[in-house]
Amino acid sequence: MDCCDPSVYDDHFDAKRARDQLRAYRRDGPRGWSSRLIAELAADGVDGLTVLDIGAGVGAVHHALLAQGAASAVDVDASGPYLEAAQGEAARRGIADRVTYLKGDAVALGDAIPEADLVALDRVVCCYPDMDRLVTLAATRARRRLGLVVPRDDAWIRAFIALENRVASLGKRPLLTYVHRTHAITEVVAAAGLVPASGHKGRIWQTLVYARA
Ligand SMILES: C[S@@+](CC[C@H](N)C(=O)[O-])C[C@H]1O[C@@H](n2cnc3c(N)ncnc32)[C@H](O)[C@@H]1O
Repeated sequence: MDCCDPSVYDDHFDAKRARDQLRAYRRDGPRGWSSRLIAELAADGVDGLTVLDIGAGVGAVHHALLAQGAASAVDVDASGPYLEAAQGEAARRGIADRVTYLKGDAVALGDAIPEADLVALDRVVCCYPDMDRLVTLAATRARRRLGLVVPRDDAWIRAFIALENRVASLGKRPLLTYVHRTHAITEVVAAAGLVPASGHKGRIWQTLVYARA
């Protein structure tokens, strides 16, 4: 079983984790970094736009953009339990008919992933070893804006994640966390024709938003 085997994501982002996260989302709304990502993606308006939410989890980003007037969304997730949670929540909010759900590794799905005006990767790139391919896929699909939430590219975060990964490996957890270099992400995005629009550093997570030049 390697990192990109979809069963790894089903096992890690399982039904219990999805249930817990959904409960917290219903109680508290989107987390701070997701709210910032939503606001920055929507900075030039969302009316009638399409959304691609890769690794959407319980769906906070596309639910919010649809509520603000986006026309439709595609939710691509490698975790079946998270997709089910997002779909159930969309049904509860009366917006499920505006969302298409795709199960699998977005990189492996490749050509099946459509373009969209706004593309989100909220805390997804840090679960994936091949930043270049995942970010290239997302950037080439973004007609207007691409937003990512990734760990801050700082020495203490690298040290902490390295320790966490060591513990995870000892416990035979196959899903590791990756702190990809911010400049490398920006270079990959630039190769697809997008330029930095905004950036914000939180304590652990940073929000990077790019716009088509
Ligand atoms: C840490 S969770 C974040 C979920 C949500 N975006 C949030 O911020 O709460 C990572 C999510 O990305 C998904 N994921 C990771 N790599 C993926 C890939 N290559 N293609 C599709 N989904 C992926 C996982 O299945 C999981 O749902």
